[in-house]
Parts: sequence; structure tokens; C-alpha cells
Amino acid sequence: MAGQEYMLVVEDLESGYGETQVLFGVNLKVRKGEITALLGSNGAGKSTTLWSIMGVIDPWKGRILFKGEDVTHVPPHKKTTMGLVLVPEGRRLWPNLTVEEHLTLAAKTPRSRNKVEELLDLVYSLFPRLKERRKQKAGTLSGGEQQMLAIARGLMLNPEMLMFDEPSLGLAPKLVQDIASTIAKLRDELGLTVLLVEQNVHMSLQIANYGYIMENGRIVLEGTVEELEENPRVREAYLGI
Ligand SMILES: Nc1ncnc2c1ncn2[C@@H]1O[C@H](COP(=O)(O)OP(=O)(O)OP(=O)(O)O)[C@@H](O)[C@H]1O
Ligand SMILES: [Mg+2]
Repeated sequence: MAGQEYMLVVEDLESGYGETQVLFGVNLKVRKGEITALLGSNGAGKSTTLWSIMGVIDPWKGRILFKGEDVTHVPPHKKTTMGLVLVPEGRRLWPNLTVEEHLTLAAKTPRSRNKVEELLDLVYSLFPRLKERRKQKAGTLSGGEQQMLAIARGLMLNPEMLMFDEPSLGLAPKLVQDIASTIAKLRDELGLTVLLVEQNVHMSLQIANYGYIMENGRIVLEGTVEELEENPRVREAYLGI
């Protein structure tokens, strides 16, 4: 059935802040069980796209379908209950709460509250470092550990689909690789669907199945990872080849 193949469909999305329009008719689709990358430089409108999908800002025009259902004006907490989770940029942790406090607090939603132990086991098996540091305050974790905690917190919401806003931001190359393989694992071992927003095109194309390139609030290019890697414009402007 049409629509079942895609977890998320965004049609002609327009959005912005106050009087300022930022998105000018964005179309994108995220196939179930795949990693779809949304790539672009600073200010392209990537975060605005995620916030509009999530409902943190209300879309001006267009349509958003999640699991075939129209969720264009559904508020963020309801989308979370439906299984759509955003892992925001900048990690946004509470410095004085411990790792485990973050995780158990996140799991107080209807989707997860009966499975807290199970979800904790899952998250600790994915991130053994977080298990070692479960009594440590988030403010004293390293940048990479904080990013892991942000992802772990998203997983405690028991999502079907995760959206990541620049998970590699500010991390050393080795940690960027760790985050990339973790995101690939979420797809390959847990069957999760991912929309990955990144400036790091190189890393994203390593793990994604399909990608979109955004410039000035518009999708200017899309294709499979192979197609994007071979595209002269992508090679020159985004991969520096
Ligand atoms: N709260 C806001 N109020 C007004 N304008 C905003 C707001 N947040 C973002 N913008 C503007 O919207 C445009 C797109 O920003 P957005 O944050 O979506 O880009 P981005 O692709 O996520 O960039 P980056 O890679 O730097 O995070 C920019 O011109 C930005 O200045
Ligand atoms: Mg952004």
C-alpha cells in the first residue's frame, strides 16, 4: 500500500519565525528502516525543518504525514507518544542530574513507562560507557559522552523513528565515527528509522541510504547515497573533492 513504505512524508512545507519565511516548499520522504540524511550548510533551514516536523514551530503551509497519518498540526508531545523522537542539537542536558536520572525521567511517557528496565538494559548495552558512569552528573561528562546521553535519552522514549540534529557537532573525528556507527546500529539491529540532519556530509553518506541537500530553505538535490557521491556539485561543494 502506498504510504506504508514511508515512515515520514513532508509535502510542500513552508515555515518560519514571525514574519520571516525560512522554508519555501520542502518535500522529503523517509523510508521505513532507513537512514535518510538532510544535509546543508549553516543557516540552510535544517533545524527549522526538524522543528516544523516535530511541531515545536507550527508549519505555515504544507502537510506532514507520520505512519500515514496527517500530523501537520499535532503538538510535539503527541508526536512523541506516536513514536517520533527528536534528539536536538546542543544536547540540552541538565548538568546536575546524573546519567541514570536523565534516562529514567525520559521514560515517564506512556510509551515507555512499563518498559523502563528493558529500555535501560538496551541503552546500557549500546553505550557501556554510560553504564559505567550512571551515577555521574551530566555536566561532568565529556562532549562525546554527553552526545551519547542525548541519544540514549531519545531511545528511552521507545521511538520508532529518531530525528538527529547534527549529532557530530563539536566532536573529535574518532567520536564522530563512534556516533555514526551507533546510528547505523539503531537501524541495523533495532530496525529504527532515522532522519539525520548534518553538516558533516562525509560522515552522513557513510551510513545513510538516501539524502537530500538543502540550500536557502529549499531542497536543491536528492538521491541515493551513490548518486550523491557521484554528483559533481556534491563532490565540489560538500565533499571537497
Ligand atoms: N528563532 C529564530 N528566530 C528567527 N530566525 C531564526 C530562528 N532560528 C533560526 N532562524 C533563521 O532561520 C534560518 C535557518 O536556520 P536553521 O537553524 O534552520 O539553519 P540550519 O540549517 O539548522 O543551520 P546550522 O547548520 O547552522 O544549524 C537562518 O537564517 C536563521 O537565522
Ligand atoms: Mg541547525
